Amino acid sequence: MAQSDTAFGGTGSGAAKADVAHAVMFAAAAALGGFLFGYDTAVINGAVGAIRDRYDIGAAGTGLTVSLTLLGAAAGAWIAGEFADRLGRIRVMQVAAVLFIVGAIGSAFPFSVYDLTAWRVLGGVAVGFASVIAPAYIAEISPAAIRGRLGSMYQLAIVLGIAISQLVNYALSESAGGARGKLAGVEAWQWMLALEAVPAALYLIMTFTIPESPRFLVARSREEDARKIISRLEGGDHDAVTVRMNEIRASLSEHRTKTTVRELFSKPLGVAPLVWIGIALAALQQFVGINVIFYYSSTLWQAVGYGEDRSLFISVVSALVNILGTFVAIAVIDRIGRKPLLLIGSVGMAISLAITAVCFHTATITTDADGDSVATLSDTNGAIALVAANAFVFFFAFSWGPVVWVLISELFPNRVRAAAVGVATAANWVANFLVSSTFPTLADWNLSLTYGGYAAMSAISFFVVLRFVKETRGRTLEAAG
Ligand code: GLC
Repeated sequence: MAQSDTAFGGTGSGAAKADVAHAVMFAAAAALGGFLFGYDTAVINGAVGAIRDRYDIGAAGTGLTVSLTLLGAAAGAWIAGEFADRLGRIRVMQVAAVLFIVGAIGSAFPFSVYDLTAWRVLGGVAVGFASVIAPAYIAEISPAAIRGRLGSMYQLAIVLGIAISQLVNYALSESAGGARGKLAGVEAWQWMLALEAVPAALYLIMTFTIPESPRFLVARSREEDARKIISRLEGGDHDAVTVRMNEIRASLSEHRTKTTVRELFSKPLGVAPLVWIGIALAALQQFVGINVIFYYSSTLWQAVGYGEDRSLFISVVSALVNILGTFVAIAVIDRIGRKPLLLIGSVGMAISLAITAVCFHTATITTDADGDSVATLSDTNGAIALVAANAFVFFFAFSWGPVVWVLISELFPNRVRAAAVGVATAANWVANFLVSSTFPTLADWNLSLTYGGYAAMSAISFFVVLRFVKETRGRTLEAAG
């Protein structure tokens, strides 16, 4: 166990107690970025049909309108780390909040489908910023003993954002009589996009109430400010805080200036293997196909013979299962650790996806009046597929969903963390883009094999974790690398 952990607990006389309540509050404020990430990426589900209709764009145009946002997020994530090292963690959150607001309003009241897409890409950049800065900041302000739980709050915020966006979409189109129906003279889909400005404004306000990361302050030689925050968050007497400060300083001084993305992969730093592990975990989190459920589930269930109402209902159920699983992770992550959770998750995902794939294999394919192929499952196989797909969501939700974000934030040493988190997160968005943009075509070609492919990815993810992931539970960030 790292020597720092004893200093951390603050058992000496006159030691301040760790202020867990404040750590939770700060983490929650930063996690709002995750809520916006979830809302922004999933809200399009409810709006995309109306947008397609309003601007008369074909399937390819629709696909691009949806997935270009994800590339915007990749770009945002790529640069966020370097920005965070230069400007500070809080500034990056503020820039993200403003971009979220501008993107939401702009995309809700566009002149054409082109600027609509441009506004969505801008919002995507904000998503990319938030997806780097929220987990990195949370890890940097968390006492080691509860870092996993606080980090999982970020994933909880994402899944809540997804669920709320689905409910908002549903409520708006219900009351307007469809996504193109009007409420107060504005179409429902515009409301869906515009409403994101509300949590974004809250996010902006909250960033003014939370402290800068002590690790950034030490890097900027703002020692006194850093000392105050550390002693408040982690507790401990004067000496204990000094020990912590020294550890942070030492871990930073190995490379004092900011790290560029290119340097991450260079020999002298020696962190390239870790960066590759981060990239692999981030990409695999997407390659298991989770967002196929969240971006396409209603289409999917309709394609296998469920009606529209039931399909929408199933989407809500999956969003709830996702939330439930995340709570399980929060309860156990700091007790049983990251690696066992990932391994159990991989096995569960591989089995449930394989069962889903086998069920889809039994579907009868017919062609409807428009020439689209329609698959129909027998009642029994339909029910099994439904349970298996939601079991997949559950297995993902307590393992790969939260744990990957937690690991990415704690895998890397201080001196390279922000840049490395940025690169791994960008890989997550590119992988998300690849899966989301290819699913419709793959599903048309062979739904069963597509799911079989995701099952294979889950199996691969098991071996990658077994071979390459080291447990980080309870370890201080300074012991990383
Ligand atoms: C993780 C993934 C994200 C996905 C979510 C679903 O946060 O990174 O892409 O939408 O889990 O719960």
